[in-house]
Amino acid sequence: MAKVHIKNENKTVEIPDGSNLVDLEGKSSVIFACKVGTCGACIATIVSGAENLNPPGDVEKMYLDAFGGGNKRLLCQTVIKKGEVTIEY
Ligand code: FES
Repeated sequence: MAKVHIKNENKTVEIPDGSNLVDLEGKSSVIFACKVGTCGACIATIVSGAENLNPPGDVEKMYLDAFGGGNKRLLCQTVIKKGEVTIEY
């Protein structure tokens, strides 16, 4: 199982290795809307553990650039391979 630490909720959610972080829906207060990477509702900062995530695709990169870039991800487009990640939204 992979662990997602949600810094601003002071909470850790366990999800299976290889899961899309859209699985946080209902297990956290992260808001998802489109779930296809086009609305920006699920944008979050990756505080640590980015190496355990899939790399952003070209379309996600385009949206992230529009939202200021940095170490942000659209959680609905993010897969945790294994291990731990800390996010803040
Ligand atoms: S839910 Fe719309 S971009 Fe993730």
